[in-house]
Amino acid sequence: MRKTFHVAIVGATGAVGLEIIRVLERRRFPISKLTLLASSRSVGRFLQFENQTLKVQELNEKAFEDVDFALFSANGEISLRYAKMAVQSGAIVIDNSSAFRADPEVPLVIPEINGTDVREHRGIIANPNCTTAITLMGLYPLHRAFGVRRVFASSYQAVSGSGAQAIQELEQQVRCLGKGEEVTRRVYPHQIAFNVIPHVDAFLESGYTKEEMKMQNEGRRIMHLPQFRASVTCVRVPVYRAHSIAVSAEFEKLVSLDIARSALLKAPGIRLLEDAALYPVPLDVEGKDICEVGRLRLDCALDNGLAFWVCGDQLLKGAALNAVQIAELLI
Ligand code: A2P
Repeated sequence: MRKTFHVAIVGATGAVGLEIIRVLERRRFPISKLTLLASSRSVGRFLQFENQTLKVQELNEKAFEDVDFALFSANGEISLRYAKMAVQSGAIVIDNSSAFRADPEVPLVIPEINGTDVREHRGIIANPNCTTAITLMGLYPLHRAFGVRRVFASSYQAVSGSGAQAIQELEQQVRCLGKGEEVTRRVYPHQIAFNVIPHVDAFLESGYTKEEMKMQNEGRRIMHLPQFRASVTCVRVPVYRAHSIAVSAEFEKLVSLDIARSALLKAPGIRLLEDAALYPVPLDVEGKDICEVGRLRLDCALDNGLAFWVCGDQLLKGAALNAVQIAELLI
């Protein structure tokens, strides 16, 4: 008989947590029991999994008894506080927060790129930042062909990346503006409806934000490329779901469009839209497991560069799907 597992989701009521439930269902992950954990605010809520109605439970120290896989998608603080407890109870933790991504003892994994790194885990495996994951899905096949040296990139990030409250904030602001009323804001430092905000995560002394440096820091670990450099501007845009990234990448070897196209066509988890006018847009990749690459061209400002545009559903490949794919590698 096929082995089945007790899975717990920490942050089950959040934007990523709800998506993890759907991905587990859709991919028929072999589950014997699903435990849904959230804060005391959610106690009394029920969520649907397959044909069962499951009660949300409050996260506490005892929540991980008999759990095989604990998928964390609350926030960094919660991961720091509870992940090791979960490991001590015998669970393998797959963490969506940034809490352990720089920890050399914690593999940081995109299954299509460095899936074999999961073998090194000591209880915790980290899921990469969503913008980094989607960018690397397009960049890595090109790196394999030509050897990437550095990238310049701008992201166009959906509000669902900031959680359920940010989705409501955009919805509310659009509604208020439609009625000619003043908007209120809680999540973002500026109105997000009909605006773009070049500020994702906290600023560092260098002037970059933490989010912007994730592409270089996490990219180095995932691609096993310690010299990789990335200069990124991350921008929040009034899109509900799916991130897009405009990338210019410089390579070691001489690039050719034909080789680049065939590398992308063969790569798992992505679809190349070859016709210049058939570029991907966030609305078209929403709800899709694959990331889509378009606008592939020789970069006119780099000696040995390629420019491309990549879109991906950040709640899926950037979070829930990647986490479940990691769990699948382990069973
Ligand atoms: P809750 O819904 O009870 O607040 P999002 O990223 O969409 O904002 O979701 C965050 C998730 O993390 C939610 O499921 C939220 O639960 C959960 N969460 C936030 N703070 C805590 C906490 N202190 N303990 C447990 N879960 C938490």
